[in-house]
Amino acid sequence: MTKIRSDSPQGPNGGMTWGGSLPSPLHRDARLASLGNIQHLEAASVEGWLARHGLLHPRGDVRVTLLSGRAFAALVETEGDRPLFLKQPFAAIPPVGARREGMLLRFVSQREDLEGLRHVLANFVVYDEPDNVTVTAGLPLHRTIHSLGVPPADPLLRATAGRLATMHTVSAAAELTDEERATYQAINPVPSYDRITPDDLANAPGNGFVLLLAVMQALSEPLGAARAEWRPACLIHGDFRDDNILIDPAAEGDPSPVFIDWEMGGWGDPLWDLGALIGQLLYYWVESIRAEQGSDFASWVRGASIPFHRVQHAIQVVLESYAEASGRTLSGPDGFIDRCVQLAGVFLLHRVLGSLESIGGIHPAAFYSLHLGRTLVGQPRHAGRIIAKGLL
Ligand SMILES: Nc1ncnc2c1ncn2[C@@H]1O[C@H](COP(=O)(O)OP(=O)(O)O)[C@@H](O)[C@H]1O
Ligand SMILES: [Mg+2]
Repeated sequence: MTKIRSDSPQGPNGGMTWGGSLPSPLHRDARLASLGNIQHLEAASVEGWLARHGLLHPRGDVRVTLLSGRAFAALVETEGDRPLFLKQPFAAIPPVGARREGMLLRFVSQREDLEGLRHVLANFVVYDEPDNVTVTAGLPLHRTIHSLGVPPADPLLRATAGRLATMHTVSAAAELTDEERATYQAINPVPSYDRITPDDLANAPGNGFVLLLAVMQALSEPLGAARAEWRPACLIHGDFRDDNILIDPAAEGDPSPVFIDWEMGGWGDPLWDLGALIGQLLYYWVESIRAEQGSDFASWVRGASIPFHRVQHAIQVVLESYAEASGRTLSGPDGFIDRCVQLAGVFLLHRVLGSLESIGGIHPAAFYSLHLGRTLVGQPRHAGRIIAKGLL
């Protein structure tokens, strides 16, 4: 018998992607029609689906907990069987489509030269192509690092950055064919707003889009350069926010973060993952600024309930841990701070578009993100000294 629970669905803070010119409404509505005749899972059908696929042999009740609002996602627990996590996307993400997560996780599970990074993912069980369902090990005791504190504690940040470096380093050494590299390309997140058609403008989301557009066009040069530097160098997560990083809070001393939600994963620039993590830390800080603050940075620092020095410290820990674990140095010929800072700025500019798309305007956090993002992209050296103070 199936017992169904439902956790509150996630907020609208995710899933948004843009990398070409303007996001088209057509993209946003790209439902799963192209996938043909698939069985859309519901809580009540999960038990039967798993049994038909030989994945469940219940000796008692089967507990199904629904977990997500952006895809069908369920945790399945039953006595005597391992917990399982099932995911079936509701919509395709252009241009990677709706099958990326399942195909990529299967690809990683099959390649010997990627074995050294599999511990950063939940154990892969199966990808069912006909129904586009990905099954991995269920982690009922794990929590997102976001739910455990903002910014996360140092040991969590160190372990996360360390595992990220391992994932990047191991996959950079794997020898993919050109075809595989093309099949599993990640999205270049750096937007290009140089050629805007009247049609694009007519479809632009929300009030205030022109403000974002003006900032983007003023940043055309650094954005163009950052976009051109993108290389499919290694496996990247592509949506590396703190709600896609799980840890077991009971595992004291060894947080062993697990990276989930691979819908945008693929071969790309490792610094996008790092930049997104740093952008996320900054985003929570701007969210904590009280709305009545003025337009200068000093007044934002005064008005934020998350102390800025804690964010600076967290960014420093992330950068140092990543540099150490990847065998790179923070400055010098293989220095990577400038690009990382710029990509953190890109992450913040993505949040502005997210605000336009979700509420039809620029909310206060998006307003601060717009200004901070502009400085990070346009003046990365200067901004790096501010956000990662202890390092430079
Ligand atoms: N292997 C897992 N075990 C338990 N819970 C998981 C697992 N993978 C993801 N989750 C939970 O399900 C939620 C949704 O999964 P996710 O893949 O992030 O989907 P979405 O695309 O909706 O963000 C996550 O926030 C996480 O809390
Ligand atoms: Mg997620």
